Amino acid sequence: FHVDTDASEVEKGAYPYYMLKEIDEQPTVMRSLIKHYIADDGSVTIDDALLNSMKKADRLYIVAAGTSYHAGLVGKELFEGLMKTPTEVHVASEFGYNPPLLSEKPFFIFLTQSGETADSRQVLAQVNKWGYESLTITNVENSTLSREATFTLLLYAGPEIAVASTKAYTGQIALEAILAKKLGEEKGVSAATSFDVAHELTMVANGMQELVDEKSQYEQIAANALATTRNAFYIGRAIDYDVAQEAALKLKEVSYVQTEGFASGELKHGTIALIEEGTPVIAIITGAKTANHTRSNTQEVLARGANVIKIVSRNLAEDGDQIILPDVHPLLTPLLAIVPCQLLAYYTSLQRGYDVDKPRNLAKSVTVE
Ligand code: AGP
Repeated sequence: FHVDTDASEVEKGAYPYYMLKEIDEQPTVMRSLIKHYIADDGSVTIDDALLNSMKKADRLYIVAAGTSYHAGLVGKELFEGLMKTPTEVHVASEFGYNPPLLSEKPFFIFLTQSGETADSRQVLAQVNKWGYESLTITNVENSTLSREATFTLLLYAGPEIAVASTKAYTGQIALEAILAKKLGEEKGVSAATSFDVAHELTMVANGMQELVDEKSQYEQIAANALATTRNAFYIGRAIDYDVAQEAALKLKEVSYVQTEGFASGELKHGTIALIEEGTPVIAIITGAKTANHTRSNTQEVLARGANVIKIVSRNLAEDGDQIILPDVHPLLTPLLAIVPCQLLAYYTSLQRGYDVDKPRNLAKSVTVE
């Protein structure tokens, strides 16, 4: 049994497109997750059975597709950073053909907005056959992946109608942060004990609000740099590379601009050959340790004619044109860095004359393998 949310049931209100509405809803999604999972005294309220099962695990295996896979990449940073449990992230459609060697006590996490993605369902069926416990993090109550996993945590993000996933990505990351905080705290990891997740996510919600309230600059940058380009690159290192991959998917799926999300340091090993006069290269710079290295990579592409756009955390900002992100906890910067990228994708699609909510060749949930 599965309830489909029909677009006609969800009002767009004053919005021209669902994608823009859903981008704007992200601060509310952060606040709703705080409300659902964090008590007034700041303690995280998650089912003990789930926590006990996850605490026993010696390794986490995150399985997902597309944007949810990208939320899993950030999840690895969160679970390893706050819980100190080794974590692997797997593309669902590859898992069956190329299964990883499993640890002695694995625990599986399925990330899925719809809860219906066939590639992820296949892996869960295999995990169930093996007899391992699992958690589905989803936006759709009673969805197949929710029913078939041992545990479920809901995103409470409200229906996501646009094919391009936005608020589910940030919702999944925020919920992973809440879960990692709780598990890390119970394991006595100091990084988790000192991580005030309600406060940090409130800062994120406020920062997101600041970003979505100032949209005109993204419309302008899209018009100048992306509206007529053939290709584009997003680059970053470490957690910024995770975001670069999601940012590239967002731009390519709604604007049909061939876009790659690339590890900044890897460019010089071949891909830099693609940089020509005017190629947009968007650098994401939120990590204090990686900022200077990524900046020097932007110099390299600038010297080859690239049109460089920088998205930079306020504390790392330098003179010159750049998109500034409000400062948040270093593990949560993806929640802010993705917002300008979503808006750039949105405006580029409109400027190229496409239906941003229904890009060609795509369905909202992919229920075939
Ligand atoms: C996202 O913008 C895509 N439309 C797509 O990659 C999506 O995230 C993927 O198909 C997974 O869907 P799910 O989260 O519903 O499992």
